[in-house]
Amino acid sequence: MSDNRAIGVFDSGLGGLCAVRAIHSLMPDEGVVYFGDTGRLPYGTRSNEKIVSFANGDIRFLMSRDVKIILAACGTVSSVALDRLSPCGVRVFGVVKPAVAAAVSSTATGRVGIIGTDATVMSRAFDIELAKYGIEAVSAACPLLVSLIENGFCATHPDIVTTVLRAYLSRFDDSGIDTLILGCTHFPIAEHLIRGIMPGMTLIDTTYEAVKQLKGVLTDNNMCGNAGKTEYFVSDSAIGFENKAAVFSAGEPIKAVQINIEDY
Ligand code: DGL
Repeated sequence: MSDNRAIGVFDSGLGGLCAVRAIHSLMPDEGVVYFGDTGRLPYGTRSNEKIVSFANGDIRFLMSRDVKIILAACGTVSSVALDRLSPCGVRVFGVVKPAVAAAVSSTATGRVGIIGTDATVMSRAFDIELAKYGIEAVSAACPLLVSLIENGFCATHPDIVTTVLRAYLSRFDDSGIDTLILGCTHFPIAEHLIRGIMPGMTLIDTTYEAVKQLKGVLTDNNMCGNAGKTEYFVSDSAIGFENKAAVFSAGEPIKAVQINIEDY
């Protein structure tokens, strides 16, 4: 048996394209419907109520495209909203549990770091999940990174990103962590720069771990499909999104359609 409906993926904007990239690499036959809420980003500085309400709208839009499962690629939504979402009829996956599972199997010191948006760090969602396994968490919000990464600075001005990273990552000096969860969609793009500052640290890419788990769920439930194509939708100018998308899509050209998210 198979299910040729698409996998729905949503994020506050561009960063969720890292999840699409992971789907293309791990499940190349699957169809994908991507929604980036570019008209309402950032989510990471919003109140929990706003984040839940935006996420419910994003999910309603994806359901209108008849998706079979949904991935909340956004670290902020996964941390703040996942257990407060309205039922939608399909399973909604977040990134916290898959990332924590990977961190638990990697850490030898029993101390794991998390970097994410203000809302993600304040929610303590990763810390609470890690504590279930007896693992101690140390976290740091890195809000400036989102904008630097979106604007392509990892490629054009790596020295500036490295300086900003050093300031944020100094939080982990002498913390005893040996594993760092990149708890925001954007951060895998800066992975090589983080590695330069923290050699030997195991870095956990949250969206990649979530896509690996999602693949397992589709396989176990005979829900794999071969619709193949990926469609992109955004809530602000499609051209603005398309121009910046190359940072996240490994150069793959992207064409998007603008929708009015307030209708959902
Ligand atoms: N996508 C968000 C996250 O992963 C980062 C950008 C934002 O703040 O909206 O947390």
